[in-house]
Amino acid sequence: MSFKKNVDLLVGAQWGDEGKGKVVDMLGSEVDVFVRFQGGANAGHTVISEGQKVVFHLLPSGMLYPGKLCVLGNGLVIDPEQFLAETSELFNKGQDKARLAVSPHAHVVMPYHKMLDKLQEEARGKGRKIGTTGRGIGPCYVDKYSRSGLRVEDLLNPDVLRERLTYILEEKNLILTKLYNQKPLPFDEIYEPAKRWGEAIAPYVDDTRALLRKAVDEGQHILLEGAQAALLDIDHGTYPYVTSSSTSAAGAFTGTGLAPSDLTRVIAVVKAYTTRVGEGPFPTEDFEEAGETLRKNGGEYGATTGRPRRCGWLDMVALKYSMELNGASVIALTKLDVLTGMGGIKVCTAYDLDGERITSWPNDTRTLDELKPVYEVLPGWNEDITNCKTFEELPANAQAYVKYIEQSLNVPVFLIGVGADRTQTIVRG
Ligand code: IMP
Repeated sequence: MSFKKNVDLLVGAQWGDEGKGKVVDMLGSEVDVFVRFQGGANAGHTVISEGQKVVFHLLPSGMLYPGKLCVLGNGLVIDPEQFLAETSELFNKGQDKARLAVSPHAHVVMPYHKMLDKLQEEARGKGRKIGTTGRGIGPCYVDKYSRSGLRVEDLLNPDVLRERLTYILEEKNLILTKLYNQKPLPFDEIYEPAKRWGEAIAPYVDDTRALLRKAVDEGQHILLEGAQAALLDIDHGTYPYVTSSSTSAAGAFTGTGLAPSDLTRVIAVVKAYTTRVGEGPFPTEDFEEAGETLRKNGGEYGATTGRPRRCGWLDMVALKYSMELNGASVIALTKLDVLTGMGGIKVCTAYDLDGERITSWPNDTRTLDELKPVYEVLPGWNEDITNCKTFEELPANAQAYVKYIEQSLNVPVFLIGVGADRTQTIVRG
């Protein structure tokens, strides 16, 4: 007997921090399995439930739901210290309600990855920094692809760990001492904790691909939870100012072992304005009062690093590109309430490059740096919308803004965030 597949993929459509955690949490009651498939503890997915705020950096945002399965897929880079800190925090608060499964094939972020992340950033110098989160993500993915990485399964077997770590550390110590003038890392200082991490993670390790295959074939509702966002994608983002994983829809398959034909719906999460953390092009960034107001009203400070986020207006050219890249079926529009009282709302409809009008995303960092946004100004609203429960309750101009987004992108907005809490969400029929 075959069941209808029920697999949703949720991806960020801008430069991250769109409020994906809240959307995942909001959809959570209908979901059976929550899955993260790329990235690591560079994410910061904030969930506010019953007045309590929980920020997940590594674990899926569905962890607060009792009885659900939460999966860390093979595409992740897992920082064991972060993993154990997050799981024990949930345990201590009595919130360890979901079942957690970790792929043995996920890669391990080791202490030297975090060191190298910071050292490389410093060495890049002014004007060349990426502005990474310092969580060791890039160096860990480098090791994965150069086949010098440690996978979760390697932590589980002390002999294998010893053997692999011996030659890996030799190479790392050469880099640390010769290139960065650092002290070498003593073997036991890395090996002993890594062995303990293996023991602590072992109970969670499972064949996640097989678990997911079974869940899909049984028609369970699966939510694949993307971290970061399309414009930070290693291939399709604003390279080199990107993260080191496939953050757009395609990454969900390599990162889990599921197949593209398993997918039923792609949910693109779009923030009602735009933010970016770290360096790199951002055509609609607002350096005036409006940018400051968006930062203040939207609480736009990094959930992982605390850095103030760069803020600006919605960029329809970038979003069109993002919708295409992700094959978006629907949009979850977040933080609409932050635009309340902003006066006229600017929307970028094209770019101007030396007098030439550009209407498609020029995915080239140098060009992106030089172009100027062409804005249309839409009327704003002043009414408090944080208690609106239906689309019809929104002020006419807020409704018009949502409709403008749908029509420009040709993708329906099915969910609208009007406040930080799970309950402050309008679901359209
Ligand atoms: P990394 O992922 O730490 O290597 O950082 C690379 C770039 O991605 C930097 O610009 C970071 O600020 C950005 N980045 C990484 N994770 C997130 C996120 O969860 N939200 C927003 N930006 C992120």
